[in-house]
Amino acid sequence: MRVLFVNCCIRGQESRTLRLCRAAIQQMEETLEGVTVEELVLDQEEILPLNSQRLAQRHELEEKGQFDHPMFRYGRQFAEADMILVGAPYWEYQFPALLRCYLEQISVGGLTFVYTEDGRPKGLCKASKLFYITTAGGPILDRNCGFDYIKTLCGNMLGFTDMDYVAAECLDVWGVDVEAKLREAEEVLRGKIKSWR
Ligand SMILES: Cc1cc2nc3c(=O)[nH]c(=O)nc-3n(C[C@H](O)[C@H](O)[C@H](O)COP(=O)(O)O)c2cc1C
Repeated sequence: MRVLFVNCCIRGQESRTLRLCRAAIQQMEETLEGVTVEELVLDQEEILPLNSQRLAQRHELEEKGQFDHPMFRYGRQFAEADMILVGAPYWEYQFPALLRCYLEQISVGGLTFVYTEDGRPKGLCKASKLFYITTAGGPILDRNCGFDYIKTLCGNMLGFTDMDYVAAECLDVWGVDVEAKLREAEEVLRGKIKSWR
C-alpha cells in the first residue's frame, strides 16, 4: 500500500497541521498492512502555476502522449499511489496557493483523467481514497472551501470515491487550549483510520 503524502504544511516543523499528519501516518502504519509513505514536500519543489508558455508546452506533450516528460512527474506519482494524504493549513477559507498549483500540475488529460465521449471526465488514478487534514485559526463552520474543492476535483474528475477530512479549529483564538484541540483532532483521525481495517 503506497501512500502519497502531499505535504503543504508551509510552516514546516512549526506546523500544527503537520503534527496531525504525522499522527495520521503513524496510525496508518499501525492499521494497514505493508504501508509505505512517499512524502512530497511542496515547499521544497519548483511548482509554478501554468502560464501561456507552460500551458502551450503541456498541450503539445499531452497531444503526443509524452507523459514521461519531467513536467508530468507529479501527475505520474499521483496516478500511481494507492492512497493520498493531503495536509494543508486553512488559509483564506481554503488552503495555500501552492497546493492549488500542485493540483493544476496533477490534473492532466490522458494521465490522471480522460474525457469520455459524452464529455465527462473519467479518473485514471489507481487510488480511490483521499484523506485531508487541516488546522484553522478560527472556526471553519460550513466554509471548508479547501476540502470542498478537493472533493469536487478528485471526485468528479480524478475518480476518487472515498474522501474524508479531519480539522482542528480555533487554534489562534485567545484562551483556547491548543494542545487539547490537537489531541482531540488526533483522536478523531486515529478513530477514522482504525475504521479502515
Ligand atoms: C496566510 C494565512 C492565512 C490564514 N487564513 C485563515 C483563515 O482564512 N481562517 C482561519 O480561521 N485561519 C486562517 N489562518 C490561520 C491558520 O489557519 C492557523 O494558524 C493554522 O493552524 C496554521 O496551520 P499550521 O500551524 O499548520 O501552519 C491563516 C494563516 C495564514 C498564515
